[in-house]
Amino acid sequence: MKAQAIRFDQTGDASVLRYTDIDIPEPGPGEVRLRHSAVGVNFIDTYHRSGLYAVPLPSGIGQEAAGVIEALGEGVTEFKVGDRAAYAGGPIGSYSSHRNIAAARLVPVPDAVPDEIAAGTLLRGMTAQYLLKRTFKVESGMTVLIHAAAGGVGQIATQWARALGAKVIGTVGSAAKAKLVAPFCDHVIDYTQGNFAEQVRTLTDGKGVPVVYDGVGAATFNGSIDSLALRGMLVSFGNASGPVPPFSPALLSQKGSLFLTRPTLGHYTATREELLATAADYFSVVANGTVKAEVHQRYALADAAKAHRDLEGRNTTGSIILLP
Ligand SMILES: NC(=O)c1ccc[n+]([C@@H]2O[C@H](COP(=O)([O-])OP(=O)(O)OC[C@H]3O[C@@H](n4cnc5c(N)ncnc54)[C@H](OP(=O)(O)O)[C@@H]3O)[C@@H](O)[C@H]2O)c1
Repeated sequence: MKAQAIRFDQTGDASVLRYTDIDIPEPGPGEVRLRHSAVGVNFIDTYHRSGLYAVPLPSGIGQEAAGVIEALGEGVTEFKVGDRAAYAGGPIGSYSSHRNIAAARLVPVPDAVPDEIAAGTLLRGMTAQYLLKRTFKVESGMTVLIHAAAGGVGQIATQWARALGAKVIGTVGSAAKAKLVAPFCDHVIDYTQGNFAEQVRTLTDGKGVPVVYDGVGAATFNGSIDSLALRGMLVSFGNASGPVPPFSPALLSQKGSLFLTRPTLGHYTATREELLATAADYFSVVANGTVKAEVHQRYALADAAKAHRDLEGRNTTGSIILLP
């Protein structure tokens, strides 16, 4: 069948993305054909497009979507035609109206979670789940620092960390974003105005925080290190401002016997059981209202390049979807 998709032939800025017709064969063994009702746009898509993370070219793009199953390949028993399902974390190619995908990559979407929320927030929500509960276990009474609190991961992680009983210090890049996240944070710091690490020290009686969740990368790395308490952990999970430059492990010793990890969602959802459990945990906090996951930007699929420009230009808050 004919479908529509965004593809790119060479890496570069958002202008390399082109909207085109594609042919989709019948789903193969273990696959289903999913009609996408909404597609998530994530920062990692910009890394694939720019070449920061290499993908074989020409390529589709996008790692997340939700929709309805239209056809089943041989041997698929876990889903049936008409089921709602979503996926996050690849394989690449979600910026499309339809696609074939291995049923093993899909998770069921509960009735209480609309397609737009599943498509726009599953990847970020599962990321918040593993970061807060498994990479470093956030516990009641801790103070945690979460960068880019107004962003997609940031808004989910701040609310969830608070629900776990933590005090949350969130950083943002503008006064408008500070206002937006004030309800989700105990303290908000605009890191474009002065030294955020000094402010974190002041807020923690000089001690620093036991964990920093840093998806900003190069621009915040040193400040994140300086915000940590003795034996604290820097969870460096993204590069929105560029990748962290190489550094000597001796820095971790000098700054307080610190821990550093650079985790990725795929390694925390590596088995079918982990994927289902991570998605179910995230969907449960959405369904019961603990986390208000919001899609703040909607674009036509054909306007994916504009979505990328807005995301990279720091002009988005919360999550972003494309509508095929
Ligand atoms: N490792 C994983 O498993 C995993 C999974 C999902 C996401 N991530 C990472 O998590 C981070 C957040 O992802 P997201 O999709 O939810 O994006 P996002 O937070 O909605 O957008 C990125 C935000 O980063 C901040 N930022 C600071 N400096 C920036 C710069 N120079 N250029 C652009 N943005 C800058 C901006 O907020 P302010 O204007 O407030 O500074 C911007 O809104 C990304 O680094 C992403 O790669 C990692």
